[in-house]
Amino acid sequence: MTAPTTVVLFGATGDLAKRKLLPGLLHLFQSNLLDDLRVVGTSLDDMTPDEFRDMAGQAIKEFSTRDLPEDEVKAFLQAVDYTPLSAGPEGLRDAVARSEAQLPGAQADMRRLHYLSVPPKAALPAVRTIQEAGLVDRSRIIMEKPFGTDYDSSVKLNRQLHEVFDEDQIFRIDHFLGKEAAQNILAFRFANGLFEPIWHRNYIDHIQIDVPETLGLSQRADFYESTGAYRDMVVTHLFQILAFTAMEPPTALEPRAISREKNKVFESMQPIQPQDVVRGQYIGYREEPGVQRDSETETFIALKCYIDNWRWAGVPFYLRTGKRLAEGARIISIAFREPPLSMFPRDSGVGENGPDHLTFDLADKARMSLSFYGKRPGPGFKLDKLSMQFAMQETDWAGSVLEAYERLIYDAARGDRTLFTSADGIERLWEISEPLLKNPPNPRPYDPGSWGPNQIHQLVAPFAWRLPFERKWREKRF
Ligand code: BG6
Repeated sequence: MTAPTTVVLFGATGDLAKRKLLPGLLHLFQSNLLDDLRVVGTSLDDMTPDEFRDMAGQAIKEFSTRDLPEDEVKAFLQAVDYTPLSAGPEGLRDAVARSEAQLPGAQADMRRLHYLSVPPKAALPAVRTIQEAGLVDRSRIIMEKPFGTDYDSSVKLNRQLHEVFDEDQIFRIDHFLGKEAAQNILAFRFANGLFEPIWHRNYIDHIQIDVPETLGLSQRADFYESTGAYRDMVVTHLFQILAFTAMEPPTALEPRAISREKNKVFESMQPIQPQDVVRGQYIGYREEPGVQRDSETETFIALKCYIDNWRWAGVPFYLRTGKRLAEGARIISIAFREPPLSMFPRDSGVGENGPDHLTFDLADKARMSLSFYGKRPGPGFKLDKLSMQFAMQETDWAGSVLEAYERLIYDAARGDRTLFTSADGIERLWEISEPLLKNPPNPRPYDPGSWGPNQIHQLVAPFAWRLPFERKWREKRF
């Protein structure tokens, strides 16, 4: 059971709201995961509540991935209200009061969940509006990244937020942690006797976290120009995934214990050195509308980093992400140390496709594979890389997967912070980013549709990038 909740959605007419948040709220409403839910949208657009409901209905039709019984969509839209920002804090206060009047139970038991789906410069003004509207009480706030742009700005942002909200009211969202497959890393690591003991520098050679994207800017030039791939993806998503992959077992599967272990990983991370980084910019980026002709913003980044603790000392972590690359993927690849291979003849094929690997695919259709060398059938002793694969899609649970934002809104509404990031953690990540941010290497040009600038191969040598895969994932044949 959750308390009756009003979600106040800032940026309610924006892209994220249309694609993910409104369809996600509908699902939480429809599936009774949030029992009594109302939504108050607000944004710079001057529209009436009816116009907003129409827009929300359209967005749901276009972007929801689920079956949509019409009566349930209608019931959801009846629980949606709107007030433009131009109506000021009073307008917002009135809309929330209208919403709470429709919810069951005593007002003192109701909750407000403010979701700030707004550009960075609009975040603090939205916080002020919430304060002036008297809506801080009984509330939690979900913030979208970036949480600052460097160490000083993140400390300042946190200080300003803490003037209005207590830290335990603030939910900094990183939607990668809401992905089912990301959480499964914890289950996989800590629930299996097979893998737990080898999760260690004695057995693991190196780790890759690789998130290439085929997408370009999709009309986000303004945001992207001041952000770039490192701030947009690495400081947020990739480092968070790294923490799940590398952290020590928490004392319990509960928020404080998990956060403590993640922050210890960040504490042990060595500062990111410019010589361990390849920045890239796709050819044609500077001609995109809204982009400066002499822009130095990186649309690609690959880097090597180290976690200097007893478990990981000396194990390189390679991270890569970028726009307009050859394929879209989100993988974590764990490469195991090779055993002595001298008994195998030179032409046996052993080691030819790199060491044996464990791969997590964080795609919406989550998958996992263990690749190992095995004997090719027939005479002689030739080896080939084989694999065991698991796809969540092939289980009976496929329909229960919550989309990342659904999961995270649900958790925030219940006050569960397990999958959210803390002020300390974020500040530490900016701290280790300082050498790179102060002295970024020049961005190298790369062709759209490639895997990034050539220098990425030197970065990862003597290993090789796991992507592109030498073989496709198996699709189940019925
Ligand atoms: C967002 C970034 O946080 O994550 C985008 O701002 C990126 O640039 C997106 O494309 C990727 O998320 P997903 O879940 O679509 O892989």
